[in-house]
Amino acid sequence: MVAISALLAAAAAPLLASAAPSQCYNWKNVKVGGGGGFIPGIVFNPTEKGLAYARTDIGGAYRLNADDTWTPLNDNVGSPDWNRWGVDAIATDPVDTNRVYLAVGMYTISWDPNNGAIMRSTDKGNTWSETVLPFKVGGNMPGRGIGERLTIDPHSNNILYFGARSGNGLWKSTDYGVTWAKVSSFTNVGTFKPNATDPNEYMQDPIGLAWITFDENSGGSKTVATPRIFVGVADLGNSIFVSNNAGSTWAALAGQPTGYIPHKGVFSAAENVLYITYSNGGGPYDGTLGSVWKYNLTSSAWTNITPPSPSDSTYYGFGGFAIDKQKPGTIMVAALNSWWPDGIIWRSTNSGATWTSIWEWAGYPTRNKYYKIDASAAPWVYDPTATDPKDVGWMMEALVIDPFDSNHWLYGTGATILGSRDLLKWDSSPRNVTLKIMADGIEETAIQDLLSPPQGPGILLSGMYDAGGFLHRNLDVPQTHTDQFHIYYTGTTDIDYAGNKPLNLVRVGTQLQELSSSNDGGVSWNKIYAANNAQHGTVALSADGDIIIWSPNNGQPIRSQYTNAFTTISALPANAAIAADRRNNNLFYGASTNQFYVSTNGALAWSATATLTGATKAYKIVPNPTASGDVWVSTDNGLFRSTDSGSSFTKIGGVTVGGHFDLGAPKTTGAYWSIAGFFTVDGVAGIYRSDDAGVNWVRINDNYGFGAADANKIAVDYKVYGRIFVGTNGRGIFYGNPSCSSPPPTSSTTSARTSSSTTAVTTTRTTTPVTTSSTTAVRTSTTTSSTTAVRTSTTTPVVTTTRTTTASTTVATTTRTTTTSAGGALQNQWGQCGGIGWTGPTACVSPYTCQVGNPYYSQCL
Ligand SMILES: *[C@@H]1O[C@H](CO)[C@@H](O)[C@H](O)[C@H]1NC(C)=O
Ligand SMILES: *[C@@H]1O[C@H](CO)[C@@H](O)[C@H](O)[C@H]1NC(C)=O
Ligand SMILES: *[C@@H]1O[C@H](CO)[C@@H](O)[C@H](O)[C@H]1NC(C)=O
Repeated sequence: MVAISALLAAAAAPLLASAAPSQCYNWKNVKVGGGGGFIPGIVFNPTEKGLAYARTDIGGAYRLNADDTWTPLNDNVGSPDWNRWGVDAIATDPVDTNRVYLAVGMYTISWDPNNGAIMRSTDKGNTWSETVLPFKVGGNMPGRGIGERLTIDPHSNNILYFGARSGNGLWKSTDYGVTWAKVSSFTNVGTFKPNATDPNEYMQDPIGLAWITFDENSGGSKTVATPRIFVGVADLGNSIFVSNNAGSTWAALAGQPTGYIPHKGVFSAAENVLYITYSNGGGPYDGTLGSVWKYNLTSSAWTNITPPSPSDSTYYGFGGFAIDKQKPGTIMVAALNSWWPDGIIWRSTNSGATWTSIWEWAGYPTRNKYYKIDASAAPWVYDPTATDPKDVGWMMEALVIDPFDSNHWLYGTGATILGSRDLLKWDSSPRNVTLKIMADGIEETAIQDLLSPPQGPGILLSGMYDAGGFLHRNLDVPQTHTDQFHIYYTGTTDIDYAGNKPLNLVRVGTQLQELSSSNDGGVSWNKIYAANNAQHGTVALSADGDIIIWSPNNGQPIRSQYTNAFTTISALPANAAIAADRRNNNLFYGASTNQFYVSTNGALAWSATATLTGATKAYKIVPNPTASGDVWVSTDNGLFRSTDSGSSFTKIGGVTVGGHFDLGAPKTTGAYWSIAGFFTVDGVAGIYRSDDAGVNWVRINDNYGFGAADANKIAVDYKVYGRIFVGTNGRGIFYGNPSCSSPPPTSSTTSARTSSSTTAVTTTRTTTPVTTSSTTAVRTSTTTSSTTAVRTSTTTPVVTTTRTTTASTTVATTTRTTTTSAGGALQNQWGQCGGIGWTGPTACVSPYTCQVGNPYYSQCL
């Protein structure tokens, strides 16, 4: 196969309207498995068997497949519309089951510059159009697990209602979600704020309307607007409102309980009953009191059906609620957060008169557990050795039973989707239902760093929020607990390796003093106890591995040698970008705004050297992996290179904005490293790769958006030419190879925004989703921390992604030839055994052989 030559591509560039050419890439997820984040909502379509959707708070929506895998539906979302990955509600049409709608937007506060939108699809989420709302939507705000706040009239499916946050009230569409107007007669917009005295605006915005539920039994005709509609509102006073005239007038439902927030309002048509779960918090983390009620429409009676607490009293609110449509009167409810000893789910087969629960105390501290665990789809999620395993889960707002299959249930937790296809075992003896991870295909982790190491067992190392990160030995099978960076069960924000001793690694994390080292390529880690009070940020390890510098996000950069106490580097500004030369143990680099800094004595003394002309933000410094003194730095004014150890820089032509980037395996033997990253080249933002040190560029992101570009991370594979890793903030890790063997997602975005008759704006965006491959494997443990990312990194994306089409084929191949050498020391497994500039052993201890990875690197494998 003839590979596209960058030179040829450049020659063709003028014909392509001066934009850099594109190259076809085949992108798919690096499999972590099991989601890895909060699942706030799951909905089954009531009329099409097997059709279901799940929504995430930071990574878009998914559709369920018959084999229990999930297909992502929003992979073309990029900058500047990154907030579309926050899904605050989802609605599946009971009449035309091909129609599905999303209410999207990340935050209703200043963190999100964009208004929200209602996205609509007539092909089950394969392609979307959207209407921009005149206010923000909060898919990652408090109360995101309540709902659903977007609902379709079951009799007249052209009618939709959306319950807004922030006091914006109730909105209605009568044309399948194209145009929207405020329902002025609905005045109870919800006064509840998660914490009005908290100085953080995140806690102060009213959660607003909670859910909209139709009484499908009401109305003589089943083809005109359903007259009776219930609306739940986040308010401690009256919180349930009803209209009996299709939304013209509204009144508080008489006799209702007050004092709590109604999280779910589920109508059981066969029983003519509305079930409601309440909590004293908005969720998803909080809630210490709550109740469960039913409102019987036949008798107008309210009945408290709160299941009995396993302890003396309730210490949790209630979240998810499910009815079994095949068995009227069979219902289930989840404690939103029973943090200890575990989450609780109850089931009743008599409309809540009596309940059984998924576990019970059998004389403290013993518990009877009426479940067994199947974590085969994501073994890392369960740690069988954990002292406090949360088998059942936490943050349980989404709980559903398949309307066509009483055995099939799903529920969302802070970490994954659990459920099974044997739920009726709950009602038999012994009661023993399976809690199976049912989130295959969902990748929701928030990636903070990626590293393709020169050496060691890992193809990739990832740092992420919540789950910590992983040593990735295989890109396509779910992760194990063993390969999780779980020393502290928190987030990893940066990882670095020692250039001359690449098995030596350091990483830093989200917690104070979270610094640890590995000398086996990331298999095992040891805490370094000298870490001051630093946290978060980036870390650099000297070429020989003895000096660590850390640029935390809560103070000045600091320096330590031989893991002695850290000292402040006062010469470097706070939050400076930092890097270590890969060959010279004393050479370090720093950059901030337009200033580059160099230390030649092991990061003790620093001098301001060159100016990065026109930059106001230095983003990332990447040294040449094998040559001392050759260093690249990306800025908001493009990409710069120095070949004199940072004394002077040359700006790379054509690149006007540089984000996260990396250097990796060259295209051919002897060629310069391949460079790839988030860049704006010739005025077009995207992911670009250059195989000739920045002379020519090809755009490689196809129609993938990867969310907010400035939150994303890039690693270029050290050994496999052309293989690029992209870490996202909420859609996990992707890897791409230059190949058109499977067609790229063809996504045509018609961004003609036409004003509708109301204040909302319509946009048409067409997307073809990408099917995530389904791979199955084995079992797990739950981390004790709640798994949800609050976006911290951006409000203003620096890189804008646009989409065009591509047509060229390149096949990436790794040549691994075996070499032998005589005499001298033998290298150990994973050790380097050859490459340009290598002077160490060139033969391996038995049974390993020295295999060429690239011209610069051979390894004992
Ligand atoms: C609300 O925020 C204030 C100020 O941060 C804090 O002191 C208080 O504990 C918070 N209340 C709750 C219920 O979390
Ligand atoms: C609702 O009330 C009617 C009339 O009292 C009663 O027959 C029915 O059993 C009640 N349904 C439920 C689910 O409580
Ligand atoms: C449930 O089934 C598993 C596996 O068959 C078994 O180990 C466990 O003891 C059973 N639990 C109960 C309560 O029967």
